Formats: sequence, structure tokens, C-alpha cells
Amino acid sequence: MADGPWGGRWSAGVGKEAAEREVERGASGANRAAVVTLWSGRMATGPAELMMAFTASIEVDKRLGADDVRGSAAHVRGLERAGLLAAGEAGALLAALDTVAAELASGSFVLRDSDEDIHTAIERRVTEIAGEAGARLHTGRSRNDQVATALRLYTRRELAAVGRAVLDLAGALLARAAESGDARLPGYTHLQRAQPVLLAHHLLAHGWALLRDADRIVDALRRMDVSPLGAGALAGTSLALDPDATAADLGFAARFENSMDAVSDRDFVAESLFACALLGVHLSRLGEEIVLFSSEEFGFYRLDDAWATGSSMLPQKKNPDVAELARGKAGRIIGHLTGLLTTLKGLPLSYNRDLQEDKEPLFDALDQVNLGCRALAGLVETLGFDTGAMRRAADVPTLAAVDLAEWLVERKVPFRRAHGIVGGLVRDALEGGRPLADLVRASPELGPEAAELLEPGTAATRRRSAGGAGRIAVDTQLERFTRQLEVLARQLDGR
Ligand code: ARG
Repeated sequence: MADGPWGGRWSAGVGKEAAEREVERGASGANRAAVVTLWSGRMATGPAELMMAFTASIEVDKRLGADDVRGSAAHVRGLERAGLLAAGEAGALLAALDTVAAELASGSFVLRDSDEDIHTAIERRVTEIAGEAGARLHTGRSRNDQVATALRLYTRRELAAVGRAVLDLAGALLARAAESGDARLPGYTHLQRAQPVLLAHHLLAHGWALLRDADRIVDALRRMDVSPLGAGALAGTSLALDPDATAADLGFAARFENSMDAVSDRDFVAESLFACALLGVHLSRLGEEIVLFSSEEFGFYRLDDAWATGSSMLPQKKNPDVAELARGKAGRIIGHLTGLLTTLKGLPLSYNRDLQEDKEPLFDALDQVNLGCRALAGLVETLGFDTGAMRRAADVPTLAAVDLAEWLVERKVPFRRAHGIVGGLVRDALEGGRPLADLVRASPELGPEAAELLEPGTAATRRRSAGGAGRIAVDTQLERFTRQLEVLARQLDGR
């Protein structure tokens, strides 16, 4: 007869027909047993096949296997401390959990049709291995606190891994910035050339956004560091279990304060998804810029062959698919965040099965940003910089217009008037087809000294203000960025 996590609640297993089908499948070597659920004691008939197909989550949550084993082992030790296991039972259960962990790791763990989720499957397998003692594993525990515990353990580890991938990408940007010397390019606003900036400054602008992403992850990790184990179905238990002890056993900083909150709270999933979504947006912006700058129209970046794709038809093509997918995947990750928030918004306390829908978006978002950071790091590390093309675009004299105005300001001309004087000269230069430098030299307010500001490279060196795009400010910035990166790496270390 079929058995599942709720088999005891049902008065019968699956109907005869379904049971026969199960036997047939078993005979065909698929190693499946008929469906008996964890709750079958309560039911007069077994579950309908479609009911199981619609509600089962095992294809998604099988990833939580190792974390469920960890949580289950902590629970077993808690049961033992509470005197709820007979002599030898804790050892038998822990040994069975070890075997399950090994089977999961080696891929030899066999799923059954009755395994509606990985938590059911593990309890079923532990019972197969440990015999009688298996029937005590779920004492004082519900899948509600069990799932929340496993998911927190999983998220804590995988989000920290994303944080490290973010720092790797930030490190790649830092390395390229540090080696770029005095290379300069136009800085843009409205995608119109605005002022020349050092390439290092430009690259680090993306880098700082990533450091904030890593900081956000550290922050989310701190908040999610709370064990829900011991909350039971929603109200705790009459048994002498100690949630503080299991929290400590699992390396959580604290236990839940409220059992109903503990089983229904998915803030930590939503926060992780937001961290992933905003990170995804940052990866997308970087990707978009690599697409743009590696186009022939810009010609600032050259893609390494190993990090570009070709065209199936056009022999000359070299395409920035990594950068485009970094851009494209952001949409999907933002969708995961809005999807989960929508799932959560109408839920009454406490656990509702809707919560099962938290895992697919979370797993996918974590996977995608982790891979995205690492792929973009590879792209950035190998990017060729055409510093000549950048310089030619940056050294257009009009990009020093504001420097001319500020030169006048230093000579006590009010800025608005200075802006007007220089704007007029730029207009004359563009309309009359004359070099701006000639007009500046001939200008009564400006003259030959001011015209020197239009010499290639001069404007970029003049940004002295803190955090600005000039050499001295950028050197300070490189140092501060390095230090901040180290601080974040330490905070993520051991997470
Ligand atoms: N797979 C389910 C989930 O992830 C397990 C919880 C089922 N709990 C229950 N009370 N039916 O949420």
C-alpha cells in the first residue's frame, strides 16, 4: 500500500486501480511503491493521482535534501535530550540520516511516487533503514517548521555564495580599473557625451553598485539567521523540546520568537529575491553597456573569443551573448520577486500550502545571479579596451566646456554668466565650423591660458573633488574600494 508523510491520517492507501498501476511500475523496474501518505490515517481512500501530481513539490524541493537531513539530525538530538527516544533510537536515526545524506550526495537515493516532497521522502527512507525508530522521527515536528528550517539553511548558504560571486565580479572590475592607468573615455548623460572620465572611474561606478549588493546580502543573511525549528505546525508542542538548543545546534544566531510567525514568514525569501533582483538589474546595466561599447559604433570594448558567440549564418559576426543574457535574465528575476510578493500578500496566518511556491523562484534567482556574476567576471577579465578609440571620443574639445566655465568662475565670473559665454562660443564653433580653441584664444574673457584646457587629456585631470573622475580622487577611490571589498569578503567568510 502507498505511504506518504501523512499516511497515518488516511484510512486507506491509494485505490485498487492505482495500487495495481504502482505494482506494474514496480515490476517494470522503476522501483516505486504504491502511494501511502503521511496522513492516510485520516482518509477513507488514498489520494487521487492528479491531486498528487498537482500538489507534489519533490521535483523542485529535492534540492533541500542535505539541509533537511541537517535539520532532521538536530531534531533527533533534541528529541534525545528531551528523553523522547528509547535507548539506541537516536543513534539508529542519526545513522539512517547519514546513510540518506550519502545516498542523496551520490545520486543513489530513489524517489517514490508517494514522496510528495523531499521531507516526506527522507522520513520514509529513514524509516526503511532505521525500522521502528523511524516512527519517532517526526515527534513534535511538522513539515511546516521542517520546511522553513531546511529552506533557511539552504538560503543562508546559497545567498552567501551569491555574495561571494558578487565580490568576485567587483574584484574583476577593480583589477581592470587599477590597471587602466590614465585611459579615459567620455562620461555620458542621456547617452550624450558629457565630460571625460578616467576608465577606472567608469568601471568602479559599476563596482560600487555591486558592493552595495554584497552589503545588502550580508544584511539579509543577518536577518534570516533565525531557526524556525520547534514551531511545530503553528503553535509549538506540548513536548519538552527546546528550540533554543536546536537553533544553536544548527548554527543559527537565534530561535523564532513566535511559532505562527516562524512557519508563515517568508520575508527571508522575499528579501533574498529583492537582493537578487536588484543585483540582476546591476548585472543588466553592466551587460547593456558592454553590448553598446563593443558595437562597431562605439568600438571601445573588444570581446575575447572565448567569451563571445558567432552567428550561424553571418561569418563575420562576434556577438556579446553573455552581456545580453545578463541583461535578459534580469526580467525573469524581477518576475520571481513580484511573483512571490503576490503569492504572500493575501495569506492568512499561519502556514498555507501557497508557501510551497516560494522555492522555484528562489532557487532559480539564486542560480541565475550566481552564474551571471561569474560569467560577467569572465567577460570583464578578458575584455579588450580600445583606449585609443576611447581617448579620441573623450578628447573632443566641447567636453571641456564646463572646465572653461569653471576657469572663469575662478576669476570671479558668476557661473551662470560663464555658462553663457562658453555656450555661445560652442555654438559659434559648431555653426561656423571653426575650432573651439581658436575662439577661446580670441575671446576677451578667456584667452590663450584658458585655451590650454582644451588640450587633450587636460580636462580629465582637473576633477579634483572627492569622489570625482580625476586622477587623485580616483586613486583614493581605488584604495577605498579595495578596503570595502575586503571588509565584505570577511563578513561573507564562513557564512
Ligand atoms: N512541500 C511543502 C512545502 O514546501 C511541505 C509542507 C506541507 N505542509 C502541510 N501542512 N501540508 O511547503
